[in-house]
Amino acid sequence: MTAKTIDGKAFAAEVRAKVAEHVARLKEEHGITPGLAVVLVGEDPASQVYVRSKGKQTVEVGMASFEHKLPAETEEADLVALIDQLNADPEVHGILVQLPLPSHLNEDLVINRIDPAKDVDGFHISNVGRLATGQKAMVPCTPLGCLMLLREELGSLSGRDAVVIGRSNIVGKPMAQLLLGDSCTVTIAHSRTKDLAEVVRRADIVVAAVGRPEMVPGDWLKPGATVIDVGINRVPGDKKPRLVGDVEFASAREVAGAITPVPGGVGPMTIACLLANTITACCRANGLIEPEGLTA
Ligand code: GUN
Repeated sequence: MTAKTIDGKAFAAEVRAKVAEHVARLKEEHGITPGLAVVLVGEDPASQVYVRSKGKQTVEVGMASFEHKLPAETEEADLVALIDQLNADPEVHGILVQLPLPSHLNEDLVINRIDPAKDVDGFHISNVGRLATGQKAMVPCTPLGCLMLLREELGSLSGRDAVVIGRSNIVGKPMAQLLLGDSCTVTIAHSRTKDLAEVVRRADIVVAAVGRPEMVPGDWLKPGATVIDVGINRVPGDKKPRLVGDVEFASAREVAGAITPVPGGVGPMTIACLLANTITACCRANGLIEPEGLTA
């Protein structure tokens, strides 16, 4: 059996279209333009690419995009002052501080300075706690994107065995919380897990988010499993570097029921979910009903 390839690029386009529709409605019926502020400190090339892409897609769905680029040597007090200003700005409904920050800045302090209602990354400690306790939260974008793909593919996730490989605050832990919220039986595996192959073989759903190229081979998978590959790893290729996931795609697709490719799987969902979160934050800020299907 060859697995279905889950087209994250196409699904992300559907999410963006839904967001654009809601943006138009908010403008027309309420005179509100949702706004997203992105803060970039320093000149990290990968971060610059992400920020440019976020700004472009924000404008494409009709939202206002506010970009703040600060020099690498920016002092913490100045960054905090900018966040305070964005927190108080009624035209800004979402705030994202691109990570990683230069090492002299305290990431936890900076993230926790963001108004939790505008924390479209879902990284503020209050949103982390809300997600963990089943309260309405802003949910981190990549795990939200994975959840949307899983629901689209499988319908109800209730009672399914899920394994999340990776325990990061950005993906692994919130992913596990979301799966638990959808009534999966969840295992979080990591670098110290004993007999990972055996753990993975039990799972109906595998979410791989470790950042190790092609670490999960097909023979670890339960036949028919749904595999969500969050990894984006650059490895040497014949002529130029190529991107691979945390799952060995060629062998995995011979065993899995459905699998996300790299690129074109989870990647495009992240920014689409950032836009979805911005709409959600804007609706909540204005006491309006949130669009369906764009939240956890
Ligand atoms: N850097 C890499 N991924 C992310 C993300 O999802 N949000 C932020 N703010 N920074 C990142």
